Amino acid sequence: MEFATRTIHAGQPSEPGTGSLIAPIFQTSTYEQDAPGCHRGFDYSRTNNPTRARLEAVLADLEGVPHAAAFASGLAAENAILQAYLTPGDEIVIPQDVYGGTYRILNKVFQPMGCVVRQIDIGDTAAFEGALNSRTRLVWIESPTNPRLLVYDIAAVCQAAHRHGALVVVDNTFATPLFQQPFALGADIVVHSVTKYLGGHSDLIQGAVLAKDEALFEPVKFLQNATGAVPSPFDCWLTLRGLKTLELRMQRHADNAEAIAEALIGHPLVQRVYFPGLPTHPGHDIARRQMTGFGGMVSFELAGTVDEVVSFVSSRRFFALGESLGGVKSLLCHPARMTHASIPAEARAALGLSDTLVRLSPGCEHRKDLVADLLEGLATLQQAREAQVVLA
Ligand SMILES: Cc1ncc(COP(=O)(O)O)c(C=O)c1O
Repeated sequence: MEFATRTIHAGQPSEPGTGSLIAPIFQTSTYEQDAPGCHRGFDYSRTNNPTRARLEAVLADLEGVPHAAAFASGLAAENAILQAYLTPGDEIVIPQDVYGGTYRILNKVFQPMGCVVRQIDIGDTAAFEGALNSRTRLVWIESPTNPRLLVYDIAAVCQAAHRHGALVVVDNTFATPLFQQPFALGADIVVHSVTKYLGGHSDLIQGAVLAKDEALFEPVKFLQNATGAVPSPFDCWLTLRGLKTLELRMQRHADNAEAIAEALIGHPLVQRVYFPGLPTHPGHDIARRQMTGFGGMVSFELAGTVDEVVSFVSSRRFFALGESLGGVKSLLCHPARMTHASIPAEARAALGLSDTLVRLSPGCEHRKDLVADLLEGLATLQQAREAQVVLA
């Protein structure tokens, strides 16, 4: 079955009792039992719920593995993985670019518990090999990364990590299973902020953990119930609805991102464009090899001041200024002050995260409108500069 067909059919039969084409929202906390402990697979909705079960089935299918657990947020999913696999003294290796919330949970929650966080350039083979040792339990990567869309060679990362007995977690939020299949490249665990492209409509917060191996999945599944950060049946239903158009949406997002990257590159007010589809992008060749599309995100560094960035991002017509990404309605953000503000300024500078970086999440609007909106914003900055020169 092809990907688009699976998003609509996998794990989603019509409801047997009524024939309802789309399964209902099982909005229930509990289930009537025939005798104590004798039930039909569902006893309490924190433990299991038919709407959530359908969602987990389709997510597992799309990532090509048997196991999925849905969580109340991407970070709850991350927390379950970290809690399942890290014990004090264990080490985790992460790349330079990682979502600010991932950086925060590692440095503010797991490091104080005695875990060692090594943040290095995973693309630098010598630095990466040097960071791995017998205490390395996890290697955690995003690819493409948030916010600079850096691309890592997942197969090479997995081979090196596995040589040292470490597990590899891939955050596949930006690529989605449509464009990238981390398990086929050797990943042990995949995590998603379902909030983004999988949900796709900026109307829910949700996460998921996927695993191919039962033994690796079991502790995460246990924590899903034991710590209880589960999504509501309604949110699961919304994701099931969103997933049905994942392929259509992703193709549109990717086309829009490409058009925007091409429009921005070479613009005098744009210092650098980050989009894996550009041949000048350092990870372009790897992206071509391990992805089937370059994704829907574009970032760029403005050749200007932070005040100019603030003015630009605050006044776009179609790009709403907001946290998050991956919805049908375009969003943009200023990572230094928003998504990545939890990384201290000195650490951001050391990581090469510019304060003039702008991250764009083109939605499903028409590319002409999106490109025009961005170019108009840059033209306004240019005019403001020229007016200042005249006044001076
Ligand atoms: C790449 C990535 N992973 C994980 C998360 C966390 O997900 P959530 O916001 O659903 O908790 C985010 C949120 O922006 C993200 O961008």
